[in-house]
Amino acid sequence: MKIRGERICCLTVYDYSFAHMLDRAGVEILLVGDSLGMVIQGHPTTLPVSLNDAVYHTQCVARGCENALLIADMPFGSFQGNPQSAFESAARLMGEGQGHMVKIEGGTVMAETVAFLVDRGVPVCGHLGLTPQSVNQLGGFRVQGRQESAADQLRQDAQSLQDAGASVLVLEAVPSGLAKEITRSLTIPTIGIGAGPDTDGQVLVLYDLLGIYPQKSPKFSKNFLDGAGSISGAVQAFIKDVRSGQFPGPEHSF
Ligand code: KIV
Repeated sequence: MKIRGERICCLTVYDYSFAHMLDRAGVEILLVGDSLGMVIQGHPTTLPVSLNDAVYHTQCVARGCENALLIADMPFGSFQGNPQSAFESAARLMGEGQGHMVKIEGGTVMAETVAFLVDRGVPVCGHLGLTPQSVNQLGGFRVQGRQESAADQLRQDAQSLQDAGASVLVLEAVPSGLAKEITRSLTIPTIGIGAGPDTDGQVLVLYDLLGIYPQKSPKFSKNFLDGAGSISGAVQAFIKDVRSGQFPGPEHSF
């Protein structure tokens, strides 16, 4: 799709019924995000999500997923320690959970782990920019890569992850121009959230798309249920707007 210039649609999902709906609607990537800690479990961050939680939700989603690529998030603490423990966690998400790919937050520092997983048959999606598992170090859910030194680090991190064998890269809350530059410099697809219109695909947290998360939603999210009439109508509107390039607009970007 990247080569053909077709935009990729990705949504987070945590259960069978939504997975079935999104899959049949034609969403290309279903992501069992650790955002489940916030939107399903009601925690203020993603940090309390356990590997067991992630395996359980991946199993639920896998039963509804027939066509889409199913990416399972590696929760905080399940991969940072060393490559071997990352492999053991990934093996659970793919074996018990039936995920097709795992997602790991972090840049160059995680490259060795990414290569270790890829060498052992585990496809990996990277995640750069605002990496919510590092919220305590970042000082909040903030846009990343605004200073030139931080932008440089992101460019290097993206290249390191691709060189290590990552198949996909999520870019979260980074300036649009930087996301565009990184997207053009890589052969693997980038999936943006708060990263402007020029990434290869877009992802939203499903509960933000439906406007049902009771806490403040980020500037980059959009309630697609408004005016859509139904949940499946909202999902179709998201797909249409991503494919046509109408979403995200400048009001959702930095
Ligand atoms: O956990 C999640 O939902 C995510 C997306 C926001 C990319 O990582």
